[in-house]
Amino acid sequence: MQKITVTPYGEAEKYTLQGNGGLSVSVITYGATLVDITYKGKPMILSHADLEEYKTADGYWGATVGRYANRIEKGKFTLEGVEYDVGCNEAGRYHLHGGVVGTDKKMWAAKIVDENEPAVEFTNILEDGEEGYPGRLEVKVTMRVCDDNTLSINYEAVSDKTTVFNPTNHAYFSLGEENTKDIVLNIFADAITPVDEMLIPTGELMNVGGTPFDFRTPKKIGQDIADLSHPQMAICGTYDHNFVIFNTRRAMRFAARAVAPSGITLECHTDMPGLQIYAGNPAGFCLETQFYPDSPNKPQFPSCTLKAGEKFQSATHYKFF
Ligand code: BGC
Repeated sequence: MQKITVTPYGEAEKYTLQGNGGLSVSVITYGATLVDITYKGKPMILSHADLEEYKTADGYWGATVGRYANRIEKGKFTLEGVEYDVGCNEAGRYHLHGGVVGTDKKMWAAKIVDENEPAVEFTNILEDGEEGYPGRLEVKVTMRVCDDNTLSINYEAVSDKTTVFNPTNHAYFSLGEENTKDIVLNIFADAITPVDEMLIPTGELMNVGGTPFDFRTPKKIGQDIADLSHPQMAICGTYDHNFVIFNTRRAMRFAARAVAPSGITLECHTDMPGLQIYAGNPAGFCLETQFYPDSPNKPQFPSCTLKAGEKFQSATHYKFF
C-alpha cells in the first residue's frame, strides 16, 4: 500500500500519510493544515468540507499558526531596543495568531522526506517586516506518522534578524465523539498564566489547586467548564488558558492525556513550556503547545526570542492508542 498519497485540494494539495500502525493523517499545503486524522475508523479532529471553508471560516481549524501563536498585548513589543507594532488583528483589541495573514493562511511548499515511516516537510518564508515582525524567517514543519501511532510535529526556523517565534498547531480534537464534555482530561500542570479582561496574561502564575483548572487528577472536560464562579472562567466563559507545563529548562515532557468514552486515548508530549487549552467549541478541544501568551512583553516567562542566525527547533507529539 502507498504510504503517502498526494491529491489536489482546491488549488492546494493534500498529503495523506498512512502510518504502519493504522493512524492516517492528512495535511494540506494551505496553512500546513491538518484536515483529517483517522484512527480506528473514527475522525480524531474537526474538519471543514473543502478549501473554501478553510479559507473563510474562523477558528484556525487544524492550522499551523505563527509567526507568533496566541496574543501579544496591543500588538506591540520591543526587541534589542527597537519597538515593533504587529497590529491588533483581533477586533482591534490585541494581536492574535500571527496577524491578518499568518502562517495559517499561506501556501506552504511540501516535500516527502520519508516514505517508510511517512513524513512530509512543509516550508515557508516569512519576509522581514511581514505582518510587522522583524526578520526574514525560514520555517520548516515536519509531520511524521510514527509506527506507534504518534503524529510527530517538528518545528524548525531560522531568521536573519532577531525576532520572536511561537508556532503551534490548532487542531480541534474530538477523538471520535460528537461532544467533548465526557472526554476525561489530565493536564500535567500545577499552574496557569491567568489573564486580564483583555485575555492578556497578568504575568503571574496561578496555582490550579482548588480551581476548575486542576486537571492533575483526571476529570471530564465538562465537569467544571460552566463554573463561572471562578474569575478566570468568568472572563473567558470556557477553558481558554495557557497551562504551565514548565517554567525552566527546555525538555520533552508529558503535557496532557485525554481519554474518550470509547477508550480512545490521546497523549501529548512537548518541549514547549505552555499548553493552551481552548474548549470554546464543544465539538473539539485544542491542545496548543506554545510559549506562554504575550511572552514578548513578559521577561519573566520563558523566552520566545529567536536570535539572528540561531536555529529554532521544537517538537510536539500527539499519540493515539
Ligand atoms: C484562542 C481563542 C480563540 C481561538 C480561535 C485560541 O487559540 O486562545 O481565544 O478564540 O484560538 O481563534
